[in-house]
Amino acid sequence: MKILIAGKNGQVGRCLVDLLEAQTELTFLALGREELDITDEIQVDKIVSEFQPNIIINAAAYTAVDKAEQECDLANTINRDGPCNLAHAANKINAVIIHISTDYVFDGVSTESYTESDVTAPQGEYGRSKLAGEQAVAQACPKHIILRTAWVFGEHGNNFVKTMLRLAKTRESLGVVADQFGGPTYAG
Ligand SMILES: NC(=O)c1ccc[n+]([C@@H]2O[C@H](COP(=O)([O-])OP(=O)(O)OC[C@H]3O[C@@H](n4cnc5c(N)ncnc54)[C@H](OP(=O)(O)O)[C@@H]3O)[C@@H](O)[C@H]2O)c1
Repeated sequence: MKILIAGKNGQVGRCLVDLLEAQTELTFLALGREELDITDEIQVDKIVSEFQPNIIINAAAYTAVDKAEQECDLANTINRDGPCNLAHAANKINAVIIHISTDYVFDGVSTESYTESDVTAPQGEYGRSKLAGEQAVAQACPKHIILRTAWVFGEHGNNFVKTMLRLAKTRESLGVVADQFGGPTYAG
């Protein structure tokens, strides 16, 4: 079993590498943007056809939610076209693609937890680009798994949990928005 990971330097990518390095049964190749730019269709095809993975995990993404409002084209290139390239390459060699998406594909209006079959209605450019990525993956590769996660935290990178822990050490009280609900999810 061979696994190719795109986006090895992100929060999720680094946790995946930690997990895979701790085992010996699976062969893996984890690459960062400088070695595998998912928006480069030719590079994606070359690496996938050379390594011949059984599973491709896409941990690469444009994740600057607020900035995406100004960088809509870039967000779409990375979050829609990138996964599309990986999914096409996976399909060519009959591999499975595991693609990570987000709760931002929903409108956030529901007072209950969202399920897989709930209607998507992204409210911003980031969510729209991630939804477009999901659709591109599903269309390009029948053997796909799309994971919608939320509030990812872990030991690597910056995240809400780390910020709260850091501030809690130095402040008596914290001012935090109180009208958002989410399920913090461990990257590993
Ligand atoms: N963080 C969250 O709270 C959260 C919540 C829900 C869903 N998600 C989803 O979970 C997944 C992983 O998120 P994360 O928190 O691990 O994100 P992250 O820490 O921002 O990591 C994303 C990685 O993707 C890389 N990347 C960007 N453009 C690329 C390209 N063209 N080719 C290859 N790599 C590229 C980045 O490289 P550079 O460092 O070079 O930019 C970065 O290392 C994403 O799909 C994200 O949408 C995250």
